[in-house]
Amino acid sequence: MYETFYGLTAKPFQLNPDPTFYFDSRGHHRALSYLEYGLHQSEGFIVISGEVGAGKTTLVRHLVQKLDPQKVVAAQLVSTQLDAEDILRLVSAAFGLRSKRLEKADILLGLEMFLVSLTAVGKRALLIVDEAQNLTHRAVEELRMLSNFQLGEHALLQSFLVGQPEFRDMMQGDDMQQLRQRVIASYHLGPMDAEETRAYIEHRLSLVGWKGNPRFEGPAFDAVFGFTTGVPRRINTLCDRLLLAGFLEGRKVLSAADVEAVVDEMKAEAGPEEVRPGQALPAGPLGANVIPLKTGSAAEAIDAGALEMEGGEEAAQARELAVRFQAARMEERLVRLEKTMGETLALLQRALARPKKAGAKEES
Ligand SMILES: Nc1ncnc2c1ncn2[C@@H]1O[C@H](COP(=O)(O)OP(=O)(O)O)[C@@H](O)[C@H]1O
Ligand SMILES: [Mg+2]
Repeated sequence: MYETFYGLTAKPFQLNPDPTFYFDSRGHHRALSYLEYGLHQSEGFIVISGEVGAGKTTLVRHLVQKLDPQKVVAAQLVSTQLDAEDILRLVSAAFGLRSKRLEKADILLGLEMFLVSLTAVGKRALLIVDEAQNLTHRAVEELRMLSNFQLGEHALLQSFLVGQPEFRDMMQGDDMQQLRQRVIASYHLGPMDAEETRAYIEHRLSLVGWKGNPRFEGPAFDAVFGFTTGVPRRINTLCDRLLLAGFLEGRKVLSAADVEAVVDEMKAEAGPEEVRPGQALPAGPLGANVIPLKTGSAAEAIDAGALEMEGGEEAAQARELAVRFQAARMEERLVRLEKTMGETLALLQRALARPKKAGAKEES
């Protein structure tokens, strides 16, 4: 739609983790160095954590793209609530091995033989588990057992565990001590700063043939940063809407006021019920990130009914927070929807990997 109006070859702000759009921000660069270091060590676990939308999946895909398939055989899987045996089957399947109708011991044997055979031809195996916060403790334990496979002094498998901050918390548990001992490095991928946010927007635009149309006024970039706090996914959501609005209104120059208008629109879509005076603010994964719940802050202003007031700095601040809060809620809904889709996919994967029960009919 708006692509033609702005002379772009494609949509610049899609929500899929497409590595061709990879922007090497300081945080992403650092995280990448950790992963590359891990690869070099070829053993144990590297843990990357980050909020929803920080760019973890994009980063991992970018890395996988760069790997030489003659040297590293990478298997990726997205975790849902998997229990121990499912994870072994999925790991097996991710490496292209057959695990149907096999007992656990045979799956393990198959995996070990496969890993040994890779080593024999000078290749290394890399297992990447995304959304690791969904792993059950037993599944984590199975992964740890896999990391025990060795040939002489050499570990046969290297794993990256990528997940939301809950995964870091989960790893602090007493029962995770053995896993912790195997973690050779971990890194938390935070949001970008204002300068990087601008460079990120320009980078994505230039990959689809942007030549300055639309032109972003300086304060427009600041407004995007202010609203999104530099989280790539939020930037994409907002900028996509901004370009659409610009197109609908025939604008070739976008200002901070345009950004704010889009934010207001998103706020209106989120519905009026979201923040009421006296209502406690839920600390969802995004809400907690977006709204600074400090004493004496605008959160208290909301509690004190400042939203009802017309003027005043506190009221303005509270209103701004309310807008952010509502956008975060919308985003949470989107994430939930995506998660449901992910779970359906995993169910299918599991159904395909599961051995058929005796007597069950073969499907044609
Ligand atoms: N470094 C980056 N370069 C380009 N786009 C990015 C980057 N990081 C994140 N994005 C974009 O932000 C959105 C969310 O990224 P994603 O990798 O799915 O985050 P996460 O896996 O941490 O939830 C995607 O649209 C992705 O393309
Ligand atoms: Mg992801």
